[in-house]
Amino acid sequence: MKFLAQASAALALLGGTLANPVAFDDLMTPTAPLKRAQQALKQVTNFGENSSKTKMYIYVPSKLADSPAVIVAIHYCTGSAQAYYNGSPYAQLADQKGFVVIYPESPYSGTCWDVSSKAALTHNGGGDSNSIANMVTYALQQYKGDASKVFVTGSSSGAMMTNVIAATYPEMFTAGIAYSGTAAGCFYSQSGGADQWNNSCANGQARGTPQVWAKMVTDMYPGYNGSRPKMQIYHGSSDTTLAPANYNETIKQWCGVFGYDYTKPDSTKANSPQSGYTTYSWGDHLVGIYAQGVGHTVPIRGSDDMKFFGL
Ligand SMILES: *[C@@H]1O[C@H](CO)[C@@H](O)[C@H](O)[C@H]1NC(C)=O
Ligand SMILES: *[C@@H]1O[C@H](CO)[C@@H](O)[C@H](O)[C@H]1NC(C)=O
Ligand SMILES: *[C@@H]1O[C@H](CO)[C@@H](O)[C@H](O)[C@H]1NC(C)=O
Ligand SMILES: *[C@@H]1O[C@H](CO)[C@@H](O)[C@H](O)[C@H]1NC(C)=O
Repeated sequence: MKFLAQASAALALLGGTLANPVAFDDLMTPTAPLKRAQQALKQVTNFGENSSKTKMYIYVPSKLADSPAVIVAIHYCTGSAQAYYNGSPYAQLADQKGFVVIYPESPYSGTCWDVSSKAALTHNGGGDSNSIANMVTYALQQYKGDASKVFVTGSSSGAMMTNVIAATYPEMFTAGIAYSGTAAGCFYSQSGGADQWNNSCANGQARGTPQVWAKMVTDMYPGYNGSRPKMQIYHGSSDTTLAPANYNETIKQWCGVFGYDYTKPDSTKANSPQSGYTTYSWGDHLVGIYAQGVGHTVPIRGSDDMKFFGL
């Protein structure tokens, strides 16, 4: 626990009381009604080591590409694999593009993800992140997938897990897209608990320098020196569940990891990709999209996600 205790001690916690953990509600509201996927979602019960008891569901389109890409799509608190399959566009996109979608399902009551325990915040630590990585290994083998096209995305708690997965399994993922999450390690629990709510992070009081946030990422897989996934971070300015300050802290984290100056994006595009949204980009590894006036549910932009993933 030492590494995170040190890193989190370096974060300034600006006041704030720690109330009891609260569950939060996060409904997926896609912009347009979705067409139904052609195939059903299937559970896989033999994907490998699974000490956190995370469940695996998979969507395999009838027209599977040769050497298909693999997308991990991670649900929000109160959600499920089935709810995310129904409410997000990835299965329909798989029908068009021939990739495989893994929908992991949280083993915890309330179905938030464990992004607070040392196990979850460590490469091969035995937490949910480890189980999800094992699902990817299984899918790559089972479907002869393209290991250079493995992606992760999620909403809310699933977006927190997206950042955690990118930090703990950088060698496995090519790109990640987080819709309304928090920086990797921001939900760290001092008592070491799994699946703990962290009010100071949720309320936007956990602030750090890019260096402090980046160290949290690099400490999750000590000694790793290879490439890391490029990241795209969405957040709404009217988010009352995970305060908008989490947008900047997450941007600072990945800027710290990639060596970008977070105060100087290479480009800033107003009203992009739609009115009220601003798109910021740094180098070829980081895009931030801040959605003015949007609450906790930033609608998933399926075709933009495909572009970011290069699919
Ligand atoms: C993982 O644990 C869940 C919950 O116990 C179970 O449903 C699933 O079959 C397990 N999968 C593996 C591969 O052990
Ligand atoms: C919440 O997370 C921050 C890091 O973001 C950490 O400093 C703080 O101790 C955590 N709170 C609890 C109650 O563990
Ligand atoms: C990167 O890590 C690998 C595996 O641990 C090691 O063999 C290699 O020497 C490291 N490279 C550098 C530049 O540190
Ligand atoms: C994020 O940081 C920028 C630049 O420092 C600042 O202008 C903006 O107000 C911050 N946004 C939030 C939501 O804290």
